[in-house]
Amino acid sequence: MSNTKTARSTSATLARSWPVSPSRETWPMLSKSALLSLLGGLTLLASLPMRAEVDGPQLYRQHCAKCHAEDGRANTLRGWLYFAQNLSQAKWQDNNSDNDILDAIQEGPGAMPSYADKLSEAEQLALVKAVRGLRKP
Ligand code: HEC
Repeated sequence: MSNTKTARSTSATLARSWPVSPSRETWPMLSKSALLSLLGGLTLLASLPMRAEVDGPQLYRQHCAKCHAEDGRANTLRGWLYFAQNLSQAKWQDNNSDNDILDAIQEGPGAMPSYADKLSEAEQLALVKAVRGLRKP
């Protein structure tokens, strides 16, 4: 009985002081350590892409070669089935900008899957370069 009363009055006090006390007392203490861990997290995050080597050709073999073939010619079974683009064609390379290639990776035209959520931006850009490297004279 008295417990309930105490609880009730405590929450009443809390409710009354809520707009003031958390910002004045709890916040500064929280924010110091929160800021520090945030800083640490950000530093770690920022350094991750630099540390993890992004290997474009390796990513290409892993994600793209099953349809477009290791050399880009798309002469694989899946390439045939899905009408995958021959990425080694000089004419195709000339007609498509880096941005076009990035768009394809992110959106996945036709039967191609989208990689917007599967690969980081650094990985997508490395793949653009890898696709450029497939060009045949
Ligand atoms: C499931 C098979 C498949 C996989 C895996 C795949 N693609 Fe494709 N890709 C296709 C098909 C099919 C097309 C042609 C789509 C169309 O134009 O209708 C295509 C088209 C493209 C194009 C050309 C788009 C254009 O406008 O000419 C690029 C560039 C490309 N793919 C790059 C990649 C890269 C890079 C990867 C790996 C991250 C990849 N693809 C993975 C099937 C695939």
